[in-house]
Amino acid sequence: MSDDFAALASRLRPQCEAFVVQYERPRSALLPIMHLFQDAQGYVSQDAMQFASDLLGITAAEVESTVSFYSLFFRKPVGKYMLQVCRGLMCELRGAESIMAYMRERLGVGHLETTEDGVFSYEEVECLAACNRATCMQVNLEFAYDLTPSMIDDMLASMRAGTYAVKPLVQSEKPGRSWKVKQDTEVGTGGKSPGTLTSSDPNNAGGIGDPSGIIMLDRIVLKDSSFTGRSRERLVRDASGVAEIVDEEGGVLRAGH
Ligand code: FES
Repeated sequence: MSDDFAALASRLRPQCEAFVVQYERPRSALLPIMHLFQDAQGYVSQDAMQFASDLLGITAAEVESTVSFYSLFFRKPVGKYMLQVCRGLMCELRGAESIMAYMRERLGVGHLETTEDGVFSYEEVECLAACNRATCMQVNLEFAYDLTPSMIDDMLASMRAGTYAVKPLVQSEKPGRSWKVKQDTEVGTGGKSPGTLTSSDPNNAGGIGDPSGIIMLDRIVLKDSSFTGRSRERLVRDASGVAEIVDEEGGVLRAGH
């Protein structure tokens, strides 16, 4: 843990503890605590997740699985403006595909990428629960509705000029060009589901691109597990509480009761 983070943690600790006492169970304070750190750092750092784990008495894997579930949390340093365009069904029916293509073209980056100047990060996300105002997006978690190409031009211009209504994110660290979660490092340390053999995207939250639901199942059932590699098959029996991961050769990697 860096000195900077230690100072930040000690500054935010009283607010975190105030959240904890508001809830019947300490773990319920996880989301507001993560928002607090994201506001201060511009993203949710590994240090912040470890701090929450220690404070709330829950495992690092439980913190990680919750934080990685929500597109509200950024797990890597991102641009000053985090642009999250909805690709859900209703937005799709109202032209999200062309809005996303326009946005990618205007920014010069793709899904989960940051512009070279570090001003914009771009992500295509699942339903933002504002379907009656499709197509829509969030800018630093604030909504923009009924998108059109000319609206996007105006928004990007005012963000570049620093006059956009939503304030820029804190940038405590320089963002990388891509903020994808890396298969090799983060899956290997148990931070991310490896997905199934046929689904290569460890950034998939278990939504549209995960029709089997297995990635999501990993997070719910195996939240205390470290992922050791890709699995051909997972056997899960709710009633008895037994979960197994079977590897490509059929050997049981992990079994629990
Ligand atoms: S599908 Fe876009 S907000 Fe619901």
